[in-house]
Amino acid sequence: MPMVPQAMFAMLACARVGAPHSLIFGGFASKELSVRIDHAKPKMILTASFGIEPGRRVAYVPLLEKALELSSHRPSKVLVYCRDNMEKVSMSGNSSLDWDEEMAGARPHDCVPVSSEHPLYILYTSGTTGTPKGVVRDTGGCAVMLKWTMSNVYGLRPGEVWWAASDLGWVVGHSYICYAPLLHGNVSILYEGKPVGTPGPGAFFRVLSEHGAAGMFTAPTAVRAIRQQDPHARSGAAYPLPRLRSVFLAGERCDVETLEWAKRSFGAPVLDHWWQTETGSPITSTCVGLGDSLTPPAGQAGKPVPGYDVTVIDDRMRRVKPGTLGNIVVRLPLPPGAASSLWQNPALFKEMYFTKFPGYYDTMDAGFVDQENFLYIMSRSDDVINVAGHRVSAGALEESVLQHPAVADCAVVGLEDPLKGHVPLALCVLKNGVRQCHDEVARETVKLVRDTVGPVAAFRRVLFVRGLPKTRSGKIPRSSLGNLVNGKPYKITPTIEDPEVFKEIEKALKSANNSL
Ligand code: COA
Ligand code: AMP
Repeated sequence: MPMVPQAMFAMLACARVGAPHSLIFGGFASKELSVRIDHAKPKMILTASFGIEPGRRVAYVPLLEKALELSSHRPSKVLVYCRDNMEKVSMSGNSSLDWDEEMAGARPHDCVPVSSEHPLYILYTSGTTGTPKGVVRDTGGCAVMLKWTMSNVYGLRPGEVWWAASDLGWVVGHSYICYAPLLHGNVSILYEGKPVGTPGPGAFFRVLSEHGAAGMFTAPTAVRAIRQQDPHARSGAAYPLPRLRSVFLAGERCDVETLEWAKRSFGAPVLDHWWQTETGSPITSTCVGLGDSLTPPAGQAGKPVPGYDVTVIDDRMRRVKPGTLGNIVVRLPLPPGAASSLWQNPALFKEMYFTKFPGYYDTMDAGFVDQENFLYIMSRSDDVINVAGHRVSAGALEESVLQHPAVADCAVVGLEDPLKGHVPLALCVLKNGVRQCHDEVARETVKLVRDTVGPVAAFRRVLFVRGLPKTRSGKIPRSSLGNLVNGKPYKITPTIEDPEVFKEIEKALKSANNSL
């Protein structure tokens, strides 16, 4: 669904009758959609005639038709919402129902009482290759945590206007566009647009000003995009923001310059805070409603929100000293609202999050605390690349690239990017005897990824190398490779089979950069 009220009506209608929903972001390809359809086995699928992206319409019905061709599960019903009185669109052979026609004959339905542990929704996220990872959120805990955070973390009073500039398809959208503001009695802004290009870099300021928003939530990438196009925030000057008390950032690491620019441009405290799809609400934050200082040190992402006992440990589970990088973990139990399981896979839930460090939830983020217990999030310790605040699995991209008949081996790592934080870079080894020119193979692999994972991966960069570093057990040393491509010092552990490969990759990278 695009960012239209009907998407939220449908979420709330599902919650009303106790039917767990699963929203899929529009930027995924049919293949990804089909995997999720087969895993969630929905009784009904709802889509709209199209979404709007800068410069083009994205027709969702053909995307869904192709996904259903690829999947073995069949929903009993498909409902299509045709936008804005425009021409009617339906699934081929008129096999779908029309939203307006169904609504015309619909009757009100009472709320269906459910237990607090009843699943409210399933939200698929990246992190492991192959197996779909559907985070399950329960109903009662989620409602309690979301309502509580609106006042205690975000400092909002009922009746005020709030804007979470994300997409309903991400966890921020579920929690802070849909459920939390409504539970707390706030007006929630639903915005179908981008920070820039719809039509210009003043859009965020205009929306905040016109609606008198008291608080906002967005991703650092969005701020970087505005800053890139309008370094002095001139387009925002026409829109006074007297009611805006705070702007929260999350989704990816925020560089200090972007944060300082945002403070000056929005004229309000800008507060970085940290959370994940799995938690559904912030793990660390400046808790405005609890009276935390609005001028925390630069680079931090807050202190633990009540309910979260956060600590940083080394691989042998020893607590590390302030300032030392380590694994960020949360001592059990987790607070209400955190994931209750992975859909259809409680064993994977236990194995992924609770096995490596018994007694803790493994956040798979690495970072450190300072002397005052502020947390600094530095990187992921798994294969996730954070692209414009979206979680993209390097493993899933590798699987896609390896489908190309000329590619023998591939490793995908995050390359630093001034706008999106990171973008995926594929290091590819071609099969012996391949004569096809590199540019053509690169173009074809980019298309493969767009067709199988989707445009949201923002995959455009391919580097051809003669070999990839591997440990003796065949693993790719991702973090060393990631450091190498970003020009940072990297470690070559003794288990690497052929350390010379690192030097060759450095050379290939240099000559690729020189030819750009
Ligand atoms: N439906 C269909 N396609 C979509 C889509 C959707 N809902 N959302 C994104 N896409 C497509 C885009 O059209 C683009 O396709 P393209 O490669 O053909 O141009 C691709 O996915 C990548 O999209 P995006 O990441 O939005 O990049 P962009 O270059 O179009 O825009 C920004 C750059 C900075 C404006 C954009 O990344 C942005 O708004 N970022 C903020 C992210 C954010 O709020 N994250 C919140 C997570 S909590
Ligand atoms: P998602 O589940 O898509 O919300 O992504 C969660 C991941 O985004 C986290 O595990 C972090 O790696 C990253 N992230 C979220 N918030 C922050 C933040 N404030 N600073 C740094 N990284 C963040």
